[in-house]
Amino acid sequence: MGRLEGRVALVTGGGDGIGRAVVERYVHEGAKVVVLERDKRLATAIEHAHPGRVAAVIGDVRDPATHLTATECGLDTFGQLDVYVGNVGVYDFGAKLDDLQITQLPGAFHELFATNVLGYLLGVRAASAALRESRGSIILTSSSSGSYAGGGGALYVASKHAVVGLVRQLAYEFAPDVRVNAIAPGATRTGLTGVAGLGGDRRLREETRLLDSIATTIPLGFVSDPEQHAGLYVALACPDDTGFITGAVFPSDGGLEVRGRRPARRPGRQDKP
Ligand SMILES: NC(=O)c1ccc[n+]([C@@H]2O[C@H](COP(=O)([O-])OP(=O)(O)OC[C@H]3O[C@@H](n4cnc5c(N)ncnc54)[C@H](O)[C@@H]3O)[C@@H](O)[C@H]2O)c1
Repeated sequence: MGRLEGRVALVTGGGDGIGRAVVERYVHEGAKVVVLERDKRLATAIEHAHPGRVAAVIGDVRDPATHLTATECGLDTFGQLDVYVGNVGVYDFGAKLDDLQITQLPGAFHELFATNVLGYLLGVRAASAALRESRGSIILTSSSSGSYAGGGGALYVASKHAVVGLVRQLAYEFAPDVRVNAIAPGATRTGLTGVAGLGGDRRLREETRLLDSIATTIPLGFVSDPEQHAGLYVALACPDDTGFITGAVFPSDGGLEVRGRRPARRPGRQDKP
């Protein structure tokens, strides 16, 4: 018996990256999964990979109707909804405020916040009645940028801090019916892309030099793969394992909190190459 046997989850952005790893793991643990995904090719691929266990809804998380359709898909196709994973996010590739044209800011802000923050609000709102009914679990993908500066630019870091605020407020509003928690991954080798004008044509996993330099800042010394976060998503979906946890944010970031200061250099001693 898998740990999620008999449960139904909805995962946004489940066609690639962290979302896809969560879907694969949920299916492995016995869940049935609705995937809300913008990219038709990715949506079709994950549905075909798991016939009868994954149902894909193609749409954009900035569109309220898409979320209503995804929730209805869970109820109509699989009969219930127990777990909501809000996961779609876009990046700003660390754009510094002073490097942006002032006229660029409104468009970039609206695209990034509509995806990273409004997308989660809409998804939770659409699914809330079904989740209250099942006394379910909401899991939002935040980021190490929800706690620390420097892993993104001001837009991305502010949006992920906003996700932490959402988790706290929604945990308050939904208790005692639904638990609400977040997972905060650190750098992960995915196709994470930027907003228009701020890396909209870039893909994080293709930026080898950037990933190598990020790895040097992580205490564990490497950039993660999406599968390395998936176990936390399973645990938070399981009331038997985490039924007394709500309003919490779990880091999965290679130990950024213990990064501390660089060790002091002894006078006259050369750094190792
Ligand atoms: N990759 C990292 O280093 C990293 C680190 C910390 C947090 N995160 C967070 O993890 C989450 C997942 O990102 P990822 O790295 O797996 O990225 P990804 O781009 O690999 O996956 C995101 C998925 O969402 C889909 N998507 C994008 N915009 C959409 C939209 N508007 N509507 C519907 N679907 C859309 C994409 O097609 C893709 O399948 C994001 O919230 C991101 O901020 C990523």
